[in-house]
Order: sequence, then structure tokens, then C-alpha cells
Amino acid sequence: PRLDPELSAIDLVARVPIFRDLDIKRQQAIAHLLTPQLALPESAVVRRGDKGDAMYFIASGAVRVVVEPSVELGSGDFFGELALLTGHPRNADVVALGFCKLLALKARDFQRLLAQDAGLKARIEQVAKERLNLG
Ligand code: CMP
Repeated sequence: PRLDPELSAIDLVARVPIFRDLDIKRQQAIAHLLTPQLALPESAVVRRGDKGDAMYFIASGAVRVVVEPSVELGSGDFFGELALLTGHPRNADVVALGFCKLLALKARDFQRLLAQDAGLKARIEQVAKERLNLG
């Protein structure tokens, strides 16, 4: 389901650490690319084996990444970047723990955004590298 439009993407962008320090113009440009999305409790946002078509930033709430041992991600974290960076299928299920406000970034916009912002690209790649090293 879509979120209440009153909860605008710009408010959510300002809560995500990797976006928080950007100037307002840059935040607005990013907000424009993000689609607010409400994940219902226990719903799978991404499924292992699926093709990656988007990545997600968590504006509020938490998700469980179903790896062994499982990893919880919360407000300000992101997931779903690996499939977009590697071209491989999703490497884990990611399940919402309670109601979760997400910001979806489509693969095409992800490529564009990273091409425009080297700092952002480096930060996302660094996190992806650490996750890949974990298994
Ligand atoms: P992707 O492979 O696109 O879809 C599943 C996501 O789970 C993956 O991207 C990462 O964002 C996330 N993920 C996978 N392994 C880990 C891990 N060890 N720690 C945190 N997140 C992970």
C-alpha cells in the first residue's frame, strides 16, 4: 500500500543518515526519486532468488534479513542494494517486523543517483562489501 501522501518523501529522506547531511536541494532531488511504501507486519519486502528491481531505505520501523544468524535493520538503514550492484538475484528474504515505512528507489534511478553522487555511491558500496564478506 502507498503511504498517506501527507507523509512526504522529503520528511522521510531527512531521517535517513546517508541523506541527512545533504543540502535541501539535493534532498528534494532524491525525495523525487523515492516512492514511500508501507510494509505490513511479517510481509516479505524482497525474496531470496528474485531479480532486483529496487532498493529500500527504512524511514521507520525494522526488518529482519533472513540470513544465518538473522540480522535486524532499523530506521535509517537500507537493504536490497546487493542485487542492484551485482546483478545477482536477491541473496535473502527481508521481512518487515511490524509496520515499516520504506522509501523505494527503482534500479534505474539507483544507477542515475549513484552516477551523480560519488560520496553516496562509496557509502552504499562500502556497506554492500561488508555484507558480502559476512557470507
Ligand atoms: P539483496 O541481495 O538485493 O536482497 C537481500 C538483501 O538483504 C541484500 O540485498 C542486502 O541488502 C541484505 N543483506 C544480505 N545479507 C546481509 C547481511 N549479512 N547483513 C545485512 N543485510 C544483508
